[in-house]
Amino acid sequence: MSAGDVPNTAAERREALKRVYAEAHACTLCPELASTRKNVVFGSGNADADLMFIGEAPGASEDEQGVPFVGQAGKLLEKLLGEVGLQRSDVFIANTLKCRPPGNRDPLPLEIENCRSYLYRQVELIQPKVICTLGNFATKLLRDDKTGITRLHGQAELLEVGCRVVRLFPIFHPAAALYTPRMLQTLREDFLQLPDLLAMPSPEQPEWLDPPEPAPEQTSAGSGAGPEGVAEEAVSATEAEPDQLGLF
Ligand code: URA
Repeated sequence: MSAGDVPNTAAERREALKRVYAEAHACTLCPELASTRKNVVFGSGNADADLMFIGEAPGASEDEQGVPFVGQAGKLLEKLLGEVGLQRSDVFIANTLKCRPPGNRDPLPLEIENCRSYLYRQVELIQPKVICTLGNFATKLLRDDKTGITRLHGQAELLEVGCRVVRLFPIFHPAAALYTPRMLQTLREDFLQLPDLLAMPSPEQPEWLDPPEPAPEQTSAGSGAGPEGVAEEAVSATEAEPDQLGLF
């Protein structure tokens, strides 16, 4: 997707995201994953979120339910979000891979490459200010570099993801922190930086990434046209149109 293809309004971006969902839903680029998955786990949450999390790949529970981070690691993620005053419906959660690798094996390089365009289009359409990569796979993919999460966690940097500049904030994967109290402590400390990162202005988009918005249409005074439905942007899993998505 190039910058010129990204729709302008949040409602249009959400509709475009539904089209990416439909495409991912039918994806067979990785024949093994396509033949063993129960569900494509596209992502869930607020389609206009300032904060996006990117994990590794769905596990058994996620594959069963079609929603990311619904198992133990997801419960921890929700708890840590709550500790900084956020809830799941405030953020968008996605994964590097949209399908479960059989037996929870590591994602293969070709699978990551096959799935990359879905993830990048999610970023381009959701337009988060901050992306938290959870663990090594997502961090290495977005940074296109082998440096590991132990060196990088807790340090924000500006990064181009597709046609979007975001503040990248790598942190440990919650699954790794589940049984290691020291890692949990570090993860919690890194989470505490999130409110300040979110309070910073959106990263400046270079002009070639961010074409100027067209002039707003004139509306006659008193037409009752209000601001776009903000509530629509935070549709929860249960409220969404199940025939189309059921996810965001
Ligand atoms: N771990 C991940 O990386 N993603 C999920 O969705 C669940 C667990």
